[in-house]
Amino acid sequence: MTRTLDPELRRALAARIRYYNELGIYDLYRQPVSQSAGAPLAASVAEIQTEREFGDEMSPRKSVALRTPAAVEESALEILASKPEHGISDPAKALQIIREDLGDCTRCPLHKQGREQIVFGVGDPEADLMFVGEGPGADEDEQGKPFVGRAGQLLNNMIKAMGITREQVYIANIVKCRPPGNRTPEREECETCSPFLMRQIAVVKPKVIVALGATAAKTLLAMNSSMAQLRGRFYDFKPAGVRSDDPNWTACKLAVTYHPAFLLRDPRQKGEAWKDLQMVMKELGLKPPATGVRVQ
Ligand code: URA
Repeated sequence: MTRTLDPELRRALAARIRYYNELGIYDLYRQPVSQSAGAPLAASVAEIQTEREFGDEMSPRKSVALRTPAAVEESALEILASKPEHGISDPAKALQIIREDLGDCTRCPLHKQGREQIVFGVGDPEADLMFVGEGPGADEDEQGKPFVGRAGQLLNNMIKAMGITREQVYIANIVKCRPPGNRTPEREECETCSPFLMRQIAVVKPKVIVALGATAAKTLLAMNSSMAQLRGRFYDFKPAGVRSDDPNWTACKLAVTYHPAFLLRDPRQKGEAWKDLQMVMKELGLKPPATGVRVQ
């Protein structure tokens, strides 16, 4: 049975799982507690205990028992479950499995607000560089690919100016369905959709992610700062709630820059965006093409 979980409780559970992931604990399993089937999840979250907290020596087996009520909503538990792409060595195949898992998604209200199709992500499944935007617009919704409209043309030029091609990077969005009228996606829509993006990131294992605009930056970094505060530096980024199969890849760098749609509205900021991209190029050892490409 699928029930709607209070967003605050869902956030509390997700935050606790992120905390365990940061400690290197990924294997979580459910311990049924029959008498608490009707208990609120908040109580269950508070009951999460590591073996150490139970008073034992810390064991080398890094796993945690979650004592959750039996009737907890399935989607909340998705973040606990081992992901079906785990153990798949071909990243293209692993991405395809995530796409299949997403299915004809109805997890958030965007599915019934006029979307034509889900826009999953495109590019090199082993890209060193990944761009994350906000959500599909009309062109993307029609074509099923991210950044194919006017903002996409500018993003293509930005990528070319870095001395690489669109095919060499991976491009995705925080939400995979078009918000009506291109409105900013709601926080809950971002939180419902972004676990799939986290799984894509863990498969692609980029060296650097560039968050395009405030929605992408705030969702990925779980920070509510202004663009001015967020830009100009690298963050260590670990995709929340997932791990890659590669023990050598646990995190990458994340930089924030302006969204191309914003740059179309205010072209004077292109110089600032170029500074952000130069920081990324330095990190990746990229050189601009000899002929020069105008970011316009
Ligand atoms: N804007 C976005 O954030 N993503 C797209 O895919 C297109 C426009």
